[in-house]
Amino acid sequence: MPSAFALPSGPVASRHCLVTGGAGFIGSHLVDVLLGQGCRVTVVDDCSTGREANLSQHPHLRFLRSDLAQALLGPLASERFDEVYHLAAAVGVALVVADPIRCIHTNVHQTQVLLDFVSKSRTPTLLASSSEVYGKGSKSPFAETDDVVYGSTDKPRWSYAASKAIDEYLGLAYCEQRGVPITIARFFNTVGPRQRGDYGMVVPRFVKAALHGGTIEVYGDGEQSRCFCDARDTARALPQMLRTPACIGRVFNVGSDQSVTMNELAELVVHTLAQGATAGARPAQVKHTPYEAVYGPSFEDLRVRKPDLTRIREAIGFAPRYTLETTILDIAAELRAGDA
Ligand SMILES: NC(=O)c1ccc[n+]([C@@H]2O[C@H](COP(=O)([O-])OP(=O)(O)OC[C@H]3O[C@@H](n4cnc5c(N)ncnc54)[C@H](O)[C@@H]3O)[C@@H](O)[C@H]2O)c1
Repeated sequence: MPSAFALPSGPVASRHCLVTGGAGFIGSHLVDVLLGQGCRVTVVDDCSTGREANLSQHPHLRFLRSDLAQALLGPLASERFDEVYHLAAAVGVALVVADPIRCIHTNVHQTQVLLDFVSKSRTPTLLASSSEVYGKGSKSPFAETDDVVYGSTDKPRWSYAASKAIDEYLGLAYCEQRGVPITIARFFNTVGPRQRGDYGMVVPRFVKAALHGGTIEVYGDGEQSRCFCDARDTARALPQMLRTPACIGRVFNVGSDQSVTMNELAELVVHTLAQGATAGARPAQVKHTPYEAVYGPSFEDLRVRKPDLTRIREAIGFAPRYTLETTILDIAAELRAGDA
């Protein structure tokens, strides 16, 4: 990429950051990181899947509960930011399968409006993408330059992947053609406190079932594997990426490369929570449910999804700190507090 891109050079503590989707799961952890660094933060979130309760009361935090495009074309139209983190999106396979129109519209239209907004002052911007962009390629681990392979367009499951791929194309084009310093983060499975299980997110769903001594429902045969990264590790990496000149105009896998099958995850959740359980508590049961019963007959899933992290390690020295056991315990503590 050309070296002409200008990143802010003043102290981080004086910066004004916009976080779209900042009341969401990953976004709210990012807001914590930025506030902790002394930044002023504006969050725009329509709370369609996020929650205002995810945000702390902080004198440097401003929250706008709004559709992103409406905010950027309305109240924020004449504002300028030092850094922009775009995480607002329609997220989660279950949500996407249930409402593909909303998914495509949200993910493509909102990003287009955001890119027009940041291009006015060439604001350094980080776009949240997804490992779903790789589609159903059978290679493992996935590297950023690998080909992508999608199912046919009559399978709505792939609309999320395609919409995130369009976001990436748009971001790279605004960088190349309009000189906007844009970095793209392809998140692999991200887990942690504040994630909601009701959008098909597997870890909070398993923890919730195990806490109540219920049934952990594993989809398919449970031998499909994923790598889970704690959102607090992810959030810490994002400002580093945005502020590193070598990251501009490039795509980065962000996640963990420690694989676990869904059967192993179910066991780990049961085992981890059994250690702190009260005597006589009923242990959770594990049951397998066919994919078709959950997502309908046309659903296709990947057996393995694992990132090649070479690029992000070389760029910012990324190394996750949270173990999956710690994350499970923190999610359980949050769920218990919610029940109390
Ligand atoms: N969690 C993961 O494992 C994962 C994996 C890959 C990619 N991602 C990406 O990371 C980003 C954050 O995802 P998350 O897991 O925190 O999910 P999330 O649902 O908690 O966050 C998305 C946020 O965007 C908000 N939003 C949606 N449409 C909006 C609109 N039109 N205007 C304003 N706000 C809107 C939602 O209310 C929510 O707070 C998304 O871009 C998602 O695609 C997440």
